[in-house]
Amino acid sequence: MVEPLRYLISVDDLEREHCDAIFDHATYYLENLGKVEWDVLRRKRMLTIFAEPSTRTRMSFEAAMLELGGQVISAQDAMVSSSFAKEEKIKDAFRVMSAYGHIIVFRYNDTEKDREKGVMKLAVKGALVPVVNAGDGPYEHPTQTLVDLFTIQHEKGRIDNLTIGMAGDLYYGRTVHSDVKALARLCHNNRMIFISPSQVALPGKLKEMLVSQGVQFEEYASFREAPLRDIDCLYVTRLQKERFDDLREFEAVKGCCVLTSEYAERMNDDAIILHPLPRVDELPESIDSNKRARYFEQAAYGFPLRMGLIRHILLGW
Ligand code: NCD
Repeated sequence: MVEPLRYLISVDDLEREHCDAIFDHATYYLENLGKVEWDVLRRKRMLTIFAEPSTRTRMSFEAAMLELGGQVISAQDAMVSSSFAKEEKIKDAFRVMSAYGHIIVFRYNDTEKDREKGVMKLAVKGALVPVVNAGDGPYEHPTQTLVDLFTIQHEKGRIDNLTIGMAGDLYYGRTVHSDVKALARLCHNNRMIFISPSQVALPGKLKEMLVSQGVQFEEYASFREAPLRDIDCLYVTRLQKERFDDLREFEAVKGCCVLTSEYAERMNDDAIILHPLPRVDELPESIDSNKRARYFEQAAYGFPLRMGLIRHILLGW
């Protein structure tokens, strides 16, 4: 048996056993939300420290902790409101914060320069308590991946043997990166269909990883030519405007992957449409009433899923 998770900074930290255990707990919480009062995390405190905007991730983490009887201290806008503004060393900050809480949830705008230093790794090194990555720049977002897989498990009944389409900004989209890694290593026999213009195509390193894992994948420049009928689950993402160095590059691809009703109707009736949200214009409101739309359910699954995750990290199997 593998060890329970002590921290979660990358999908690489996860094994399928972790996912299954977290999903079992999350399913129990989902089925009993509002019916049962839990106090398993009484007197445990979560610190959420976010140096980038967030709605769903931070609130669902905090709601999950409170629902389990725990407490929360939150530092929003951490780049200005915490000592990060004074260039405190990440290791020092996490060492110090460890005295105030039992788990630290951290979102950071990781840049290439920071990446060399490995901000999330430094946080784990400095901390005396578990650290959870709630999104590090354009790199990873492992807890969103758990939400995405949990959604697919519930809506399609499995996370293996599926054809998964991923559309939009596959270059900067951190949820896409974590999902691709998870689908390749933790799941079995999934076929991947990537839909994006070449400027924001999946990074070469991830494609190499797919080849080395023997995962079947195809790339298409737009919805027009993609085999939409084959897709069981279509994951739409927004262009990560804030991550483009040159806004002219953003303008050149803007509006590239808009899922119109016509494209949605090309998919099978039992296909599902997901999106990590927030959406901009790639997912028109007209899709909300489409029978395949599941993105609001997906966001709601984030609550019981994060209850299962925190429970697992703090209490083990
Ligand atoms: C995503 C993120 O922050 O990476 N949102 C989320 O956490 N649900 C997606 C995005 O910002 O596009």
